[in-house]
Amino acid sequence: MYVKKQTQYSQNRPNLSSEQHDQISAAARILCEGGTVAFPTETVYGLGADVTNPYAVNKIYTIKQRPTDHPLIVHIGNISHLQYWAQAIPEFAWKLASHFWPGPLTLILQRSRHISDRVTGGQDTVGLRIPAHPVALALLNALGPDKALAAPSANRFGKISPTTAAHVREELGSKVDMILDGGACEIGLESTIISFHDQLPAVLRPGGIALSALESVLDSPIIVAHNVNQAVRTSGSLPAHYAPATPLKIYSTAQIEKEATTLAAQSLRVLIIRWSDIDKSQLLDPLIQQFFMPQDPISYGKQLYARLHEFDQAAFDYILVEAPPDHPAWLAITDRLQRASYHHLTIT
Ligand code: TXA
Ligand code: MG
Repeated sequence: MYVKKQTQYSQNRPNLSSEQHDQISAAARILCEGGTVAFPTETVYGLGADVTNPYAVNKIYTIKQRPTDHPLIVHIGNISHLQYWAQAIPEFAWKLASHFWPGPLTLILQRSRHISDRVTGGQDTVGLRIPAHPVALALLNALGPDKALAAPSANRFGKISPTTAAHVREELGSKVDMILDGGACEIGLESTIISFHDQLPAVLRPGGIALSALESVLDSPIIVAHNVNQAVRTSGSLPAHYAPATPLKIYSTAQIEKEATTLAAQSLRVLIIRWSDIDKSQLLDPLIQQFFMPQDPISYGKQLYARLHEFDQAAFDYILVEAPPDHPAWLAITDRLQRASYHHLTIT
């Protein structure tokens, strides 16, 4: 059953300390002066800039090395601000926003005059969401209702999204003016992105909210815009994205061991990432290591990027991932793994 997001993501977080309040005030000042601040959300860390300041927004593209025609998600602090940033908002969008915000849902809506071409890559739509993280919300509230944060994930273009402040430091380091540390992200995968065609919602990017939860709120099935020739540019929908530097391949449960053994026979060091239950004491080639991920998609998704960061630093020649179960609850995970494996041939 769908659980309301406030309780789902924020309840178990402690209140902000006075030190965090000071850091948030400092971050708000930096943003108002046109600087950049990386901040935690419940999905992944974002690289934020004042959406109303084109000079600041430019910095995001430079820091991320992201093509300038790829639009940014705009983070707002309150649903009552939605009509300031978007217009002609469909009924379904209101329904979704009021159920899932704050939460891992991005809505693609017609932009208002307050959103510039710089933010949308020239498109007349804008992606908006309210993040469910006390640090992000406090930062947005400190900025006030006529400001919002343009914030893509705080990684270089095409790389794995950061789920800790340490990942951001590693990836962007001194290029950002400030990094707010809010601990490890609770969801660990990016938001679900929904667009509207003729008022009807479609999923552009599977993510932190399960399809079944969306469908139960909408009371109807929802389309997943898989590999359709989208008129919009969604960088998270490029086939190669979210990629570690180590070659990553996906194999079925039946095949994975055989593939690992073939690679090990060529003196290559292989990591197998599994989710299914096998005899863990079984000995494979010494060049093969195994890592067992959780069997439920929520815990798997939460760890995925952090594990890929970690394994990418280790000296493996190949990462072989066991194909996730073919079930809608695993859609976002399968999607990210396929993008991470895109450069590296076989997907079975
Ligand atoms: O969970 C998230 O969504 C994280 C956190 C930081 O909020 N943000 C994130 O941003 O993943 P980014 O920029 O890495 O991915 C946002 C995706 C991109 O693929 C972008 O192209 C798409 O949203 N997007 C933004 N505005 C859009 C628009 N107007 N039309 C279509 N796609 C859009
Ligand atoms: Mg991203």
